[in-house]
Amino acid sequence: MAYHGAVLQVEDVALSQLAAEHGTPLFVYSKASMLAALAAYQRGFAGRHAQICYAMKANSSLGVLQVFASAGCGFDIVSGGELERVLAAGGDAAKIIFSGVGKTRGEMRQALQAGIGCFNVESEAELDVLSAVAESLALRAPISIRVNPNVDPKTHPYISTGLKDNKFGVAHEDALRIYQHAASLKGLQVVGIDCHIGSQITDATPYLDAMDRVLDLVASIEASGIALTHIDFGGGLGINYNNDTPPAADALWAQLLRKLDERGFGHKKLMIEPGRSLVGNAGVCVTEVLYVKPGELKNFCIIDAAMNDLPRPAMYQAFHAIVPLLANPTDTPEARYDVVGPICESGDWIGRDRTLAVKSGDQLAVLSAGAYCMSMSSNYNTRSRAVELLVDRATVHVIRERESTADQMRLERLVAL
Ligand code: LLP
Repeated sequence: MAYHGAVLQVEDVALSQLAAEHGTPLFVYSKASMLAALAAYQRGFAGRHAQICYAMKANSSLGVLQVFASAGCGFDIVSGGELERVLAAGGDAAKIIFSGVGKTRGEMRQALQAGIGCFNVESEAELDVLSAVAESLALRAPISIRVNPNVDPKTHPYISTGLKDNKFGVAHEDALRIYQHAASLKGLQVVGIDCHIGSQITDATPYLDAMDRVLDLVASIEASGIALTHIDFGGGLGINYNNDTPPAADALWAQLLRKLDERGFGHKKLMIEPGRSLVGNAGVCVTEVLYVKPGELKNFCIIDAAMNDLPRPAMYQAFHAIVPLLANPTDTPEARYDVVGPICESGDWIGRDRTLAVKSGDQLAVLSAGAYCMSMSSNYNTRSRAVELLVDRATVHVIRERESTADQMRLERLVAL
């Protein structure tokens, strides 16, 4: 995403041209930018036995999955639906890890039959069920147990997951006992350990602390006679939304690998589950200004994208930069606006207190919209989901067509009243 002169482009394509051809709201993703984000991790792991599993909840569109599958990535999934998507996009089942606190028996069967690489188990109760399901299929489920390192990632409470009062993982103090229980179950094969402390983390310290805590456990689990083949450090690395300064993936991993080596675990296979940092800044949402509504206390810039397309501001008070598609100086005066969508809720805002020179018909880009936007979109207010495009230099692929109201109503039935 960069201005070429006054024109905002994704790779070699002007966003205004895409908006004219495909309408708005419109998601546009850059393939090169996703691959560059992946390359930062790959550089960080050069010479190591490591597997990057893209946490596809960040953006689960098939075209995006294809980009990562063809680059050799594995996937972190959290549902049977995500498993079907990975397989449909040509992903390798053996490189799939299955996270989540509430896997159903059906999802376990589906994943076992597909031959996934590892289940990241989040409770003792889940261990027993998974073992029974695997035994019923005459299989053994490869597992790691998600441990909760009780480290504060200093991020929004809704996306902080490694603290004691979170629903995720098992407590550090209980982990050894639960590993011993797992090792005694016939349907399971213990292969690893994992943790995930939160999302949009912009500081290396919580990662380093979590690594220390996890390595303490690896030492005690192995001392008890249970071998661990891999260590999975989860995802969570933040991106720049608004003057955020997260470490680069390769710099973060240089620090983490130093610690791993110092503590004598450098030979272990490493896994990670990054989501946002692979796709977040590779996507924008293009939207049109419908109305400008000056007010006594506030001015509103009403756009055609809304909280159903971009739910992060409403859910987490998240900041997304909003910039014009054409940066030409105009005769429109600048003013401060709350940028809001058409949905009938006060929570339907996309940006607050933004300085913009806009009039009806202008087009804007909401930046950093590659992660947790389309994948969290909804049909609220019977709004149809946006089009998604993947840009590869000058080539534009439609990876999802604009939904129609008929698409939305397809599964519904009128009743004889
Ligand atoms: N692994 C596990 C087990 C996770 O729960 C998550 C994200 C990830 C990996 C990927 O984390 P990332 O690298 O993307 O930070 N909707 C929120 C973020 C929710 C994150 C949920 N778990 C947002 O829009 O900020």
